[in-house]
Amino acid sequence: MAKYITEVLGIKYPIIQGGMAWVSDANLAAAVSNAGGAGIISCGGRTTEYVREEIRKAKQLTDKPFGVNVMLMAPNKDEIVDVICEEKPAFVTLGAGNPVPYFPKFKEAGIKIIPVIPNVKLAKRVAAAGADALVAEGMEAGGHIGVLTTMALMTQVIPVVDNIPVIMAGGFADGRGLAAALLMGAGGIQMGTRFLVAKECGVHPNMKAKLIEAIDTDTIVTGLTLGGAVRGLKNKFSVDFVQKENEGKTPKEELLRMATGTNKLAAVEGDVENGMVQAGQSLTLLQKEEPVKDIIENIMTQARETLENASKIKI
Ligand SMILES: Cc1cc2nc3c(=O)[nH]c(=O)nc-3n(C[C@H](O)[C@H](O)[C@H](O)COP(=O)(O)O)c2cc1C
Repeated sequence: MAKYITEVLGIKYPIIQGGMAWVSDANLAAAVSNAGGAGIISCGGRTTEYVREEIRKAKQLTDKPFGVNVMLMAPNKDEIVDVICEEKPAFVTLGAGNPVPYFPKFKEAGIKIIPVIPNVKLAKRVAAAGADALVAEGMEAGGHIGVLTTMALMTQVIPVVDNIPVIMAGGFADGRGLAAALLMGAGGIQMGTRFLVAKECGVHPNMKAKLIEAIDTDTIVTGLTLGGAVRGLKNKFSVDFVQKENEGKTPKEELLRMATGTNKLAAVEGDVENGMVQAGQSLTLLQKEEPVKDIIENIMTQARETLENASKIKI
């Protein structure tokens, strides 16, 4: 049975670039795959035409495996799943909903299935239902999050999933983190935030600049009162929003309306004060714009050094 994601996907390095709505397109995904990891095109907020075009574009840009991320709360999820099954990327990641009913379609199309899960119960369920690997994502991550930390998930998910690789996500940004995850028994890591400042990432330059300025304590979680927590940078939008949630005077519908379109506003239009700059907690490592290849090679070099030195630790 495969323990590492490299074996499942036939890739060089155990690093996946997480799907990022309004951010991860064919360019970024192909750059990560060409650098030895596996990139993912995001479908969040997109039309079926967009998804088809990006998959075709990525196939032009790389002959390496890449994936597509489907948010299962999207209104057009069924149409998107059909397009993915026709276009056949190497794998899909599925989050924000029950992925199991979609397994037969992807299996029939020969597409590997990697659900994104936030707790032990769902990890066991998807592993038993025939997933090829899973991503366990801690609340340090950028974007939609659960309540458990990456360490709590590594501690509790990895030992109970013994038939498929467990890819850890949330807070990874360097080679020490990758080495630690592998030592804990993970089969790889998924990073989102670290790739936001990649040269090949098409996110608006204002958002890159704000991320490079940001430090470890600069994120906030919106939506805790709405049942859909989202981590992003503190700014006018997110701080006001959380204040309104805590005051409890603004109706839920009004809050949902206020949040709609804010990811796109930041990532595409570059309004980093009124938009939601989704990002995780490991921010001090984002120091400059760098090619994906450099990000990945540096992480691999540091992970190898860390693992070599690990045997010298005496306890
Ligand atoms: C800007 C942004 C957008 C994201 N959008 C999605 C998404 O559409 N679907 C999804 O499953 N995860 C999404 N994520 C989560 C990432 O795929 C990944 O799991 C996460 O970024 C890992 O944690 P990190 O940010 O600490 O690296 C998003 C993350 C960021 C930063």
